[in-house]
Formats: sequence, C-alpha cells, structure tokens
Amino acid sequence: MPGQLAPLGPDLNLVKDWTLAGFTAAMRTGIDPNGHQISEQMPWRSVGKMDDDELEAIYQYLTHMPNS
Ligand code: HEM
Repeated sequence: MPGQLAPLGPDLNLVKDWTLAGFTAAMRTGIDPNGHQISEQMPWRSVGKMDDDELEAIYQYLTHMPNS
C-alpha cells in the first residue's frame, strides 16, 4: 500500500521449520531454535508473556499460513 511502512521483521513462514516448543522458547528467552539472539526491536519480552495456549494459537496460525 502506498505510504505504508515496509515490514520490520522477517518472513514469518520461517516458523514452519520450528517446533511448538522451539517457538515458545524463542518468544520467552529471545533465543531462536538456531541459537540466534533475537534483537530488542522484536518485542519478544512482551509477546513471551502470553500463556501457553495463546502462544500455541499464534504458532498454529503461523505454521498454517500460505507460503509467500
Ligand atoms: C505476536 C506478535 C509477533 C510475533 C509472533 C513475532 C514473531 C517473530 C519471529 C518468530 C521472529 C523471527 C526471529 C528469528 O529470526 O529467529 C521475529 C523477528 C522480528 N520481529 Fe517479530 N513478532 C511479533 C511482533 C513484532 C512486532 C510488533 C515488531 C515490531 C514492531 C516485530 C519486529 C521484529 C523484528 C525487527 C525481527 C527481527 C529480529 C532479529 O532478527 O534479530 N515483531 N518476530
């Protein structure tokens, strides 16, 4: 859309290669399943405060998106 900011983060289809436990741990610790320290630009500290059911719902959404 004209005037809209470009996406700030990566293509979240990358989560399809992660397990649920790996996704949850990444959002809670800031370290992804590949050992990458996620930058503070990504609000993982607040996203990681969601409970297990909420994070699983996001994981299910991300892992069932059409490929971009
Ligand atoms: C529920 C909301 C969100 C979820 C589930 C989410 C999920 C993710 C995931 C899975 C990554 C990949 C990290 C990696 O490469 O290992 C990521 C990266 C990133 N996200 Fe988010 N994100 C959310 C909200 C946001 C918001 C609101 C922003 C910015 C305002 C943001 C900015 C970023 C940035 C800049 C990165 C790249 C960080 C890096 O590579 O170090 N995210 N996000």
